[in-house]
Amino acid sequence: MNDIDTNIVWHEHPVTRQSREKSNGHKGAVLWFTGLSGSGKSTLAGAVEQTLAAKNIKTYLLDGDNVRHGLCGDLGFSDADRQENIRRIGEVAKLMVDAGLVVITAFISPYREDRQKVRDLFQPAQFFELYVATPVEICEQRDPKGLYRQAREGKIKQFTGIDSPYEAPLKPEFSTDGRQTIPYTVEQIIDLLNTKGIFTV
Ligand code: ADX
Repeated sequence: MNDIDTNIVWHEHPVTRQSREKSNGHKGAVLWFTGLSGSGKSTLAGAVEQTLAAKNIKTYLLDGDNVRHGLCGDLGFSDADRQENIRRIGEVAKLMVDAGLVVITAFISPYREDRQKVRDLFQPAQFFELYVATPVEICEQRDPKGLYRQAREGKIKQFTGIDSPYEAPLKPEFSTDGRQTIPYTVEQIIDLLNTKGIFTV
């Protein structure tokens, strides 16, 4: 703890997460997508958000490529910067869950320890780790941004899956190998949330 920590006391406000969840008609939660660049995280996250929004669920999507323009615009791809990236997103997601939202995140988040630290910010029923396990060969074939090619040419260093590691989740709440259709996978994720009681307050 630093001086700031010891001099600041958490303040409970009269409008609580529970009251927000009640007026929203659903619980707050985090759907934490993880997987390689080009695995389909963002596409899947967008499709899940669209389906939830159509059900009047209050959502917010935090996407790696967007957040790195603003909140995390000062960070690169060293281990320390990725760790800080995921820490900030975790804290933002926590605030948003407190606001009663279903937060959907799409970050490579390659390190188990960093994902575990985010998980630890939430109650078990609030956090869903969703692993998009598309094999690296397929991500590289797709190469939607041409980044794998640049990594192979040595123009981008520490590229996840090429010369920087990806640690697969050991016990994700959900995983897909990326072979099924998007609508099918979305339906499976919605079913999971239903079973876990997210849609009932
Ligand atoms: S994370 O590792 O810190 O979780 P994040 O999801 O925010 O990564 O950003 C990943 C995106 O940044 C990739 O989809 C890709 O477009 C881009 N990118 C640029 N350089 C790298 C790199 N060295 N490794 C991985 N992704 C990179």
